[in-house]
Amino acid sequence: MKRWVKILLLMFMLLVIVVAVAAVQMFGLHTFIGPRKRALTDSKFESTPARLERGQYIANSMGCFYCHSPHDWSKRDHPIPPGMEGAGQQLPYTDLPGKVFAPNLTPDKETGAGTWSDDALARAIREGIAHDDRAMFPIMPYPHYRTMPDEDLASIVVYLRSLPPVRNPLPKTEIVSPVKYFMRNAPRPISNPLPQPDLSDPVKRGSFLVNLIGCADCHTPVDKRHNFISGMDLAGGQILSVPWGNAASANLTPDPTGIPYYDDALFIKTMRTGEVGGVRELNSAMPWMVLRNMTDQDLSAILAYLKTLKPVRHRVDNSLPPTLCPLDGTIHGAGDQNRK
Ligand code: HEC
Ligand code: HEC
Repeated sequence: MKRWVKILLLMFMLLVIVVAVAAVQMFGLHTFIGPRKRALTDSKFESTPARLERGQYIANSMGCFYCHSPHDWSKRDHPIPPGMEGAGQQLPYTDLPGKVFAPNLTPDKETGAGTWSDDALARAIREGIAHDDRAMFPIMPYPHYRTMPDEDLASIVVYLRSLPPVRNPLPKTEIVSPVKYFMRNAPRPISNPLPQPDLSDPVKRGSFLVNLIGCADCHTPVDKRHNFISGMDLAGGQILSVPWGNAASANLTPDPTGIPYYDDALFIKTMRTGEVGGVRELNSAMPWMVLRNMTDQDLSAILAYLKTLKPVRHRVDNSLPPTLCPLDGTIHGAGDQNRK
């Protein structure tokens, strides 16, 4: 081979290596080689009355059935048609990168989870790998459920197993490129035990619940690449695109521009009715119809935790015309009243 051909070849190979290393650096190794996952085991969760009760509470008050059931969106509190709890639906948000279906989790063998093992459900919920080994789109809040204690995980699986099977065929989630490749970096296996944390202190209990439910997924503003804006935890302004009219999420910090006005009674009443003080209706993009199923103890723990947040000055008001906000870069009500 001629010497210059050899040099060219060498340079080309070097270039390929540099590009490959840069691509891995930029997009994450698992974009290319598939998600981290562990093999499934045949472990089973024993059904007990305590687990059934806890599982039902989690499914109905922390969001599982809000996403994983069809709803009558024309009604303000989005009721689930009777008997369709857990039967799956297409998510209503209109700005997702693809068609997103929350699958049928009832034990129907053909269209639901009837043939998926207990460990397949457990791995999906906390580790982000679906029963068919795919990395899931993280609107399924598995990044939050990573810290779900073992006993809560067992409870939810036992409860899902106890549902009546419902036949409800749905297509698979289809995420557009390149998001469907990038999202492979998020799943991580869990091998260590996760014991029940001490939740007797209201602030710790509230922090645990706010994380599990994923309030931040809506209430922390995001940049154009959908990363949380640092220093603005739970400070509102994220736009929820829903068929019944968009809404920006509220600032939940104790700043005067946030929600300093809630006491236990007003907070619990607002979460139960979707109305603040009987005068202002919350947009139903805020899932109060889910949180209303929580106990008073859990709701006041959530408020106790919100009161400890760092106050962030950020005015968001859906009753005012949408204007550009210099703090979060989105267009929301009262945006122009904010200063960097
Ligand atoms: C914000 C909506 C949302 C919430 C809340 C939610 N899910 Fe999901 N879930 C999804 C979506 C969407 C998928 C499918 C993702 C995909 O295929 O990429 C999914 C997938 C799953 C799967 C995997 C199904 C499979 O194919 O293996 C299980 C199991 C599951 N969810 C259980 C739960 C449980 C239990 C809860 C509550 C603790 C819950 N989900 C809460 C939206 C949600
Ligand atoms: C799916 C998105 C979503 C999730 C999840 C969510 N919220 Fe909201 N929330 C909203 C939106 C949007 C609004 C604004 C509603 C309006 O202005 O009408 C809102 C408003 C509120 C308000 C009313 C504030 C006020 O007085 O104006 C409170 C309180 C609240 N959310 C608390 C929570 C808590 C606590 C959680 C978690 C346990 C949570 N939200 C989870 C979307 C969400």
